[in-house]
Amino acid sequence: MEAYDLVVRGGTVVTASDTIKADIGIRDGRIIAVAETITTGGETFDARGLLVMPGGIDSHVHLAQPGAGGVMLADDFETGTRSAVAGGNTTLIPFALQRRGESLRHAVAAYHSEAEGKSYCDYGFHLIITDPTPSVIGQELPSLVNDGYSSFKVFMTYDDMVLNDRQLLDVFECAKECSALVMVHCEGYDAIRFLTERLERAGKTAPYYHAASRPQVVEREATHRAISHAELIDVPIMIVHVSGREPMEQIRWAQQRGLKVFAETCPQYVALTAEDLKGLNMDESGGKYVCSPPPRDEANWEAIWEGLKGGVFSTFSSDHSPFMYEGPTGKLNPRARTSFRWVPNGIPGVETRLPILFSRGVVGGRISVNEFVALTSTNHAKMYGLYPRKGTIAPGVDADLVVWDPNREVTITQGLMHHGPDYTPYEGQKVTGWPVATFVRGTCVFAHGDVVGPLGHGGFLKRTTTKYPAAEWQSTTRRGAAVGEGEALGQ
Ligand code: URP
Ligand code: ZN
Ligand code: ZN
Repeated sequence: MEAYDLVVRGGTVVTASDTIKADIGIRDGRIIAVAETITTGGETFDARGLLVMPGGIDSHVHLAQPGAGGVMLADDFETGTRSAVAGGNTTLIPFALQRRGESLRHAVAAYHSEAEGKSYCDYGFHLIITDPTPSVIGQELPSLVNDGYSSFKVFMTYDDMVLNDRQLLDVFECAKECSALVMVHCEGYDAIRFLTERLERAGKTAPYYHAASRPQVVEREATHRAISHAELIDVPIMIVHVSGREPMEQIRWAQQRGLKVFAETCPQYVALTAEDLKGLNMDESGGKYVCSPPPRDEANWEAIWEGLKGGVFSTFSSDHSPFMYEGPTGKLNPRARTSFRWVPNGIPGVETRLPILFSRGVVGGRISVNEFVALTSTNHAKMYGLYPRKGTIAPGVDADLVVWDPNREVTITQGLMHHGPDYTPYEGQKVTGWPVATFVRGTCVFAHGDVVGPLGHGGFLKRTTTKYPAAEWQSTTRRGAAVGEGEALGQ
């Protein structure tokens, strides 16, 4: 018997803390050896001239999730994970959504049926809490956390999801008691409704006005309110999809005061602007970019980079929430044509997350390649109870790898995508850096542009809770490498 099933040879191995030339020996889905040279072995993958990094972990994706008004997402587990592995990802954490009046256990069981046997990569589930009844708070959540669903998302907006302040406090207290992590969507419901109705009365109904109905002040206020509630309860929270300077500064202020406030940002906040929502000429094609919070402007991109470099953000996720553009359930559905308020919220991005951050961040000289790994993989594993099984390269851990060409120049087009929707919001954007191959527990699932399966290889991951000693929480959750510590690519 060969010592290894597979040896990935000659690559530059990058983790959140180190960059070394090494071979990686894999057996039974796990990394057995990381060594300067491995002479024995079965199959070989030639990684000379390429980077070998922990596979991307995208901790914010929506797949097979029922939307408002019966509109379905354009990706189920098969197409969503196909797109994910083609983008260099090896683990996703999508959301099991509790509909109001529904038990969480029921929502979770139904979501397992969606995923079982239909995933190319591994996955865990967050829970979306829309109806925090006494039995959800008192029984269901604690027992689900115990069973490996150790994070949940709550919303401060959206008609069918919004929780009031009292409900937020109840969920936060429950999270504290069961050591779960609460993810918070921070946009203020009443202010959005007020602005939406005012815009509609003025006849301002084109997709562009989606951005005007959700200005940063609305996000800043909700961010501050969520932080205040978390401080009251003394519970860690994760503020998701932060879009610009104003909420970023609230989070930085909270962190500087020693509060356990973590934050995530996404590609749309460094690569799209509200101008994109105008479409070609204030037309409906602007609907392709409707997501919440909306993209801001280039000055706000710089604020997001400031937060990425300065450790305000622990994770860079896609918030992949794909809808068709054309068709009866797409962004252009008949109701959506009457007002921006009915355009389904969300954009696809799981396949383009890594190239956009690598290109604009690493190649653009803003972050080191080690920071890239921390922001796209390691910190997701740490925050969501998967580390060290996932998110690093070391003997004993799952052989989840992306082999990456740091020099490949690609123009993003819909034709290159493996996702379900009929467009990419990043059409025409040029990037440098692209995945060559993706390995999930040692099995090649994507190579040289093709998803090679096998479908159903991905399995469910029970997650543990995030446990950081109080004094260390900040340093351990900041990106794996301190700024400047990691070796920057090409330096
Ligand atoms: O517009 C977005 N982000 N849609 C997905 C749902 C959410 O709020 O994350
Ligand atoms: Zn959200
Ligand atoms: Zn989302």
